[in-house]
Amino acid sequence: MSVEDCRLIDVPSFSDPRGNLSFVEGGGHIPFDIARVYYIWNIPEQAVRGAHGHRELQQFIIPASGSFNVVLDDGRQTRTVHLDRPDQGLYICPMIWRDVTQFSDGAVCLALASLPYDEADYFRDYREFLDEASRRER
Ligand code: TYD
Repeated sequence: MSVEDCRLIDVPSFSDPRGNLSFVEGGGHIPFDIARVYYIWNIPEQAVRGAHGHRELQQFIIPASGSFNVVLDDGRQTRTVHLDRPDQGLYICPMIWRDVTQFSDGAVCLALASLPYDEADYFRDYREFLDEASRRER
């Protein structure tokens, strides 16, 4: 698994004079069934969210409002993705360390997740993440 496996996915959207509507179906528009939804909001501009990796979890991140950067790191290379369109999200595969930074005023980060919350799935320690990433490469 690498940062190249993380990709932008367009979200189907309807636009009419009343505004826009976008929707995501698990297993259809994104490559996993949705077990959990969470969102981060009221975020100070200088905040860094994320700063962790996941063993198994897959996620789809949508900038429901405003914009932010997602810095992806698979232990070998990093890639920064700027998200600023509510009709486009970022798929993040397992074993990716991510930092979420550069939040605009009023940004809302909406996350669709493949599993219920489980702290045991997290890498909170970067060194531990790197060790596991290189172990899986062997
Ligand atoms: P945290 O992992 O620090 O957020 P970030 O996505 O920025 O890394 O989560 C903050 C707190 O919320 C932490 O105590 C774990 C808790 N939490 C849940 O209880 N359920 C969830 O689905 C999530 C994502 C976090």
